[in-house]
Amino acid sequence: MNFQSSSVGDLVSQNYVFAAVLHYFGISFYQYQTDSLEQVCKKHKVHVRQLTSELEEWALRKEPTTEELYLNPIEVLVAYLKKKHYYFVRQELPFLSNLISGITPEPEYNALMADLRIMFPLFVDDFIHHIHEEESRLFKRIELLQDIEASRFSLADALTILERDPIHLLAEVHEIHEDEMNGIRKLTSDYSLPAEAPLTMKVLYHELQNFERELVIHAQIEDELLFPKAVELEHLGTKRTGIAVTDPLKMLANPLETIETATLIDFLKAYCAKEQVDTLVLGLPIRLNGQDNEMTPKVMALKSVLKKHFQRSS
Ligand SMILES: [Fe+2]
Ligand SMILES: [Fe+2]
Repeated sequence: MNFQSSSVGDLVSQNYVFAAVLHYFGISFYQYQTDSLEQVCKKHKVHVRQLTSELEEWALRKEPTTEELYLNPIEVLVAYLKKKHYYFVRQELPFLSNLISGITPEPEYNALMADLRIMFPLFVDDFIHHIHEEESRLFKRIELLQDIEASRFSLADALTILERDPIHLLAEVHEIHEDEMNGIRKLTSDYSLPAEAPLTMKVLYHELQNFERELVIHAQIEDELLFPKAVELEHLGTKRTGIAVTDPLKMLANPLETIETATLIDFLKAYCAKEQVDTLVLGLPIRLNGQDNEMTPKVMALKSVLKKHFQRSS
């Protein structure tokens, strides 16, 4: 088949991905179904070769496997998800919006298209809000947890941060937001169409279904990989203890080091053996309103352990 002299309609019906590639070059395929690719490219000042190489590239595009993503550190996972967000917002949603607002299929689809024109923008609003929340709260928190892990905060600040917006609450909210395409899937009866349906509707349903599939995979990666990794990171934050020492006049506290809480007793014993230590002071984390937070009982338990090991008999 001669690619250039084929009609746009024929090319798209053989490979629906063509519709998205044409959109990428600013061409709405449904406006030129009977024109040859050559004519349309000329009109839009696009080189056919450029278009075909883009098409080939799209066909070769490979998603990383769950295993590959799992093996990567959390920041690589976040970068991958952010890139996907960008792709959804910049490429897929505009393409779908263009199809929904632009195609004029046979009258029997008028009612359905009218509903879709109301429903889809609502879905887009929700979806963009979801992405914004995810990036500004969840991804931001992961960054902070990494900073705590790298000891970029004082102990007091780290404890305050750990208390705010815990990951498990963000995970609960995330689950509520799943299945946002539910309404559209029902409206389109699970994206099913009769064989004789027009090409425009077939492309639209195919793309909507594809998009939903991608969203499901995306949410799965977040639920099954990102959240557990983030919880682990949060947990690590509470597994460390920051040690500070004062000057001989007890005027200033200077950070000494951050150690694994499990090794705290051994560390303090070794330290007390070589330095003169009068008093051990524990920071008691509480909420701003003076009530206990989730760290308070842990620190109180540590206090009694320290007492057992270090309290002088005198
Ligand atoms: Fe996401
Ligand atoms: Fe999400």
